[in-house]
Amino acid sequence: MSDPLAAAAERLRAAGVENPRREARLLWDLANHEETGFARYVLRRGVREPFAYLSGHREFYGLDFAVGPGCLIPRPDTETLIETALRLRPDRSARLSIIDLGTGSGCLLVTLLSLYPNAHGVGIDVSPEALAWAARNLEAHKLADRASLIETGWPEESSPGFDLVISNPPYIPSADIAALEPEVRDFEPRGALDGGPDGLAVYRLLAPRVVRMLAPGGLALIEIGQGQGADTSSIFSEYGLRPLEINHDLAGVPRCLALAAAS
Ligand SMILES: C[S@@+](CC[C@H](N)C(=O)[O-])C[C@H]1O[C@@H](n2cnc3c(N)ncnc32)[C@H](O)[C@@H]1O
Repeated sequence: MSDPLAAAAERLRAAGVENPRREARLLWDLANHEETGFARYVLRRGVREPFAYLSGHREFYGLDFAVGPGCLIPRPDTETLIETALRLRPDRSARLSIIDLGTGSGCLLVTLLSLYPNAHGVGIDVSPEALAWAARNLEAHKLADRASLIETGWPEESSPGFDLVISNPPYIPSADIAALEPEVRDFEPRGALDGGPDGLAVYRLLAPRVVRMLAPGGLALIEIGQGQGADTSSIFSEYGLRPLEINHDLAGVPRCLALAAAS
């Protein structure tokens, strides 16, 4: 009898999946060692559907998030925004008001509300599918009473202002999307990735809005793509926001632009 694990590993290897043996073993465990379910998972992974969409989970900053088609899978790079928030706003008892622009799975909002137990927040997203995942995650972490979710494009106004504006917007140049891994290109929502011709289109939309959203003394933390530090700093500066620092992710890539409200 053929070994289902070896056959699956071979199939995944042929499909270009990295670490095919390890993935085959993970899928076997995910299927509770049941051959029909395992075969289905191997078929899906074999067309490069992301593992996290199959398992339905991804960890972010030590917390578990439900994920699936329709929301971006949280990335470790994005944890840089959380680390920056903790460093620049060290008082965990602060009654911060937070807005997360493009909340997706809700990973940033949920994590911040967990770390700041007196904070409250709003997550906005244009995608109803993404918001359904965010709602599920707020509920699972028992944070729904401190958060609201709004289906909208980038908001024009917000009153009163927020103490913390956080965002991981789409920032991949449109022409680069075709070269991404199939897991990202073919399965994650394009609306979560596409930053227009030069990757900076959404920052240009966000800058004037973030200025109007910040309360006096407020802080904005914006994720940026590789090599976008200088351009994004100048886009936000044009609208009067003051760049405070740019923090690097674990790979050493500048990832989080911290900005202060104009004084
Ligand atoms: C890069 S994903 C970030 C998701 C999540 N915050 C994270 O860090 O994993 C960007 C999010 O912005 C949302 N988005 C894209 N265009 C938008 C728009 N015009 N208005 C509001 N949200 C938008 C997408 O639906 C997506 O959920």
